[in-house]
Amino acid sequence: MFIFTLCLFLWSWLSSIHGLEFRYHNSREMEQYLKDISRKFPDITHLHSIGQSVEGRELWVLILGQHPREHTTGIPEFKYVGNMHGNEAVGRVLLLQLIDYLTSRYLNDPLVTHLLNSSRVHILPSMNPDGFESSARECTYTIGRYNKNGVDLNRNFPDVFESNTDQQREKEVRAVMDWLKKESFVLSANLHGGAVVASYPYDNSNGGSELQGGLSISPDDDVFVHLAKTYSYSHSEMHNGNSCYDSQGFTHGITNGYYWYPLPGGMQDYNYVWAQCLELTLEISCCKYPPEAHLPDLWAANKPALLAYMQQVHLGVKGVVMDSYGKPVQNALVEVEGRRNLCPFRTDRNGEYYRLLLPGNYTIKVRSGHIPGHKTLTQTVQVPYGPDTFSALTHNFLLQNSDYSSTATQLPQSCTTLNLGIQESDSATLLPSVFTTLTLFLLQRLLMLS
Ligand SMILES: *[C@@H]1O[C@H](CO)[C@@H](O)[C@H](O)[C@H]1NC(C)=O
Ligand SMILES: *[C@@H]1O[C@H](CO)[C@@H](O)[C@H](O)[C@H]1NC(C)=O
Ligand SMILES: [Zn+2]
Repeated sequence: MFIFTLCLFLWSWLSSIHGLEFRYHNSREMEQYLKDISRKFPDITHLHSIGQSVEGRELWVLILGQHPREHTTGIPEFKYVGNMHGNEAVGRVLLLQLIDYLTSRYLNDPLVTHLLNSSRVHILPSMNPDGFESSARECTYTIGRYNKNGVDLNRNFPDVFESNTDQQREKEVRAVMDWLKKESFVLSANLHGGAVVASYPYDNSNGGSELQGGLSISPDDDVFVHLAKTYSYSHSEMHNGNSCYDSQGFTHGITNGYYWYPLPGGMQDYNYVWAQCLELTLEISCCKYPPEAHLPDLWAANKPALLAYMQQVHLGVKGVVMDSYGKPVQNALVEVEGRRNLCPFRTDRNGEYYRLLLPGNYTIKVRSGHIPGHKTLTQTVQVPYGPDTFSALTHNFLLQNSDYSSTATQLPQSCTTLNLGIQESDSATLLPSVFTTLTLFLLQRLLMLS
């Protein structure tokens, strides 16, 4: 009896100094772990569910940061999503390890401390818990990939390049869409398996001007390539670009999503086009569901990349757009000259904008979308490399009342498939529902076209 107690004591002591075990935690164990962590670190974590899966499992998100419970002006929101394909289990494991790493090193490790003090990090370890529970521990099969309804969640988002956007959204997808309305995410990645490469938008194309030499190029291509290389070169092998099974390798370990293979209804295009959140799809292991003995090496290979990527949330410029009384202006258009985004970047409900940009000089044009009597404000900013100092350049814009009468906002031509409803949104209180408005208008337009 004594020996048994001693063993039990030693086991729990060892696991507390060695951190989270390298194994697959089922949904119940994962939930328990997240609850334990949030109780152990109440000051820097906040656990909440963003919805349920088809089978009723909670979609748990752990938020980490100096102020985990609410947004703070100037602190960018970052997210990692894992296990969207239920049988691609490595991302789920690595995100739990990342949570363990960040919480246990806060205030001890300078990088971790700077990361959590300067950004708010949201982690959804499993977007498809039902799929995970039904998966086979197998490298290449698709058993468990889909959700309970047999739907591929990474084909189920609205797609700016596709006309059949009236398909039914799965519960897991709706939960993520609602989440994007509530938080103004700036940078994100979703973790997959079956290859080793960092893939960046666009994933789709309709053969318009974005299609160049077989790639579907976004206006922020330079930033996306930089982000993808940041991951692949911080990863121990990804930058070598070796392929897993077929002969096609990836130069620098990165690829344009569409160039690799066209993908309609994907999550990364949705994040970028509608939510102004730059997202990558990270393929982090050849084997989708490898033996547990491989997990420590996979963590070691990806850990520096996961951390370096988080630090990139500080690229570019950020700030508040205010009116002449100093009041933050919601839904002001903040456009960088030379970047014609399908849907222009806009200030959020706090009047804040975040614009990831590489170092250089940029001309930024700010227009209030809905308040009459404000002129367009054009200013040039010199953007340094923010990640080094854990802060993007802060540049606020003060709109002045002008003598001119109201000028109707002209949306960029490239956004014609989406009527943003800016003219309708005269009242600032309507603005949180801008996404609903977007979707409704999109549907209306499509019905008119078909
Ligand atoms: C991070 O924030 C904590 C809590 O406010 C503070 O004690 C610590 O000095 C900060 N560290 C850094 C590196 O910013
Ligand atoms: C940006 O502008 C500053 C000030 O005008 C100038 O000194 C600098 O050389 C410019 N940088 C680039 C990359 O053009
Ligand atoms: Zn996948």
